[in-house]
Amino acid sequence: MSTPSWRTSAPASWLEQALPEGAPAPGVASGAGTRPTWRLLYEVGNRRLDDANVVRWFVEDASGGAWPAVLDEPVGARAEQAFLSMVERRARGEPVQYVLGHWAFRKLDLMVDRRVLIPRPETEVVVDVALAELSRLEPVSPLVVDLGTGSGAIALSIATEGAGVQAWATDVSEDALDVASANLAGLGVQAVGRVQLGKGSWWNALPSDLRGAVDLAVVNPPYVSDAEFAELPAEVSAWEPPGALIGGPSGLEALEEVVTEAPAWLAERSALVLEIAPHQADAVRALALGAGFSQVFVRPDLTGRDRALVARRSPSI
Ligand SMILES: C[S@@+](CC[C@H](N)C(=O)[O-])C[C@H]1O[C@@H](n2cnc3c(N)ncnc32)[C@H](O)[C@@H]1O
Repeated sequence: MSTPSWRTSAPASWLEQALPEGAPAPGVASGAGTRPTWRLLYEVGNRRLDDANVVRWFVEDASGGAWPAVLDEPVGARAEQAFLSMVERRARGEPVQYVLGHWAFRKLDLMVDRRVLIPRPETEVVVDVALAELSRLEPVSPLVVDLGTGSGAIALSIATEGAGVQAWATDVSEDALDVASANLAGLGVQAVGRVQLGKGSWWNALPSDLRGAVDLAVVNPPYVSDAEFAELPAEVSAWEPPGALIGGPSGLEALEEVVTEAPAWLAERSALVLEIAPHQADAVRALALGAGFSQVFVRPDLTGRDRALVARRSPSI
């Protein structure tokens, strides 16, 4: 049997191994000669990764077609290269989200790459908690800040889901702000007018005239300790930005800084919502009470573990 023409464009030796000479060539004839179908590449990808869901996502992304109808379509040379490159990157341990270059967060499809933390499902719950605080507070044109915005996941979700929100999304990382800026631009003109980006460390990133005016602050700071970082799976520690994960030797350093300075920036009637690690709940509750917040409680994530700490300010303090 002669080598199918599409094989000449396949770069990866694993592809040759996956489909040895003599294997039937389930390609279809096209103007450019015999091309593989997506079904064939799907099978090849599955042999390499043994993860049908991920391979399906790669097929959908590289083809732009609808599953499963796309499976019987011929694959162009460029799409084939894109798909094989995705499979290879994943096989080398890169997180699926970075390989795809985008990931769903609540109602948004956010661009993500190694400059930012991959937005997590538990953070979607933190946004739920924050939106509930916004409904309770009912300010006319709420001023919301997301300190350490990364991809912009929190600020952009609240700006698009909350009514009349004006938001500030800040980060100490210029790289992260570039990603947040791209995600903001992707939301269109209306959102762009409602979200400001700022660079700096925690509250210092905000213009000083916002002191005492913030209705809701939502912060997912780095909260992993040095020791915990050493124990993280390589898929996290070797790929995601350490500055987005490590809070310091104890893991509480960034949380403490954010909580301690919060009362100077928050309006008299307002709330601070923090993402925390479950084992940090007691320590952060104590920090918030010590900073003078009147009501402090913790909400669970989807697995039932303490995840979102709410600290409310009321006019009496
Ligand atoms: C855990 S990530 C959260 C990213 C995003 N908010 C999310 O929830 O997916 C923490 C973010 O805080 C930023 N960060 C770290 N130190 C900071 C600091 N001193 N001031 C402001 N942002 C900081 C990191 O660059 C990173 O983007």
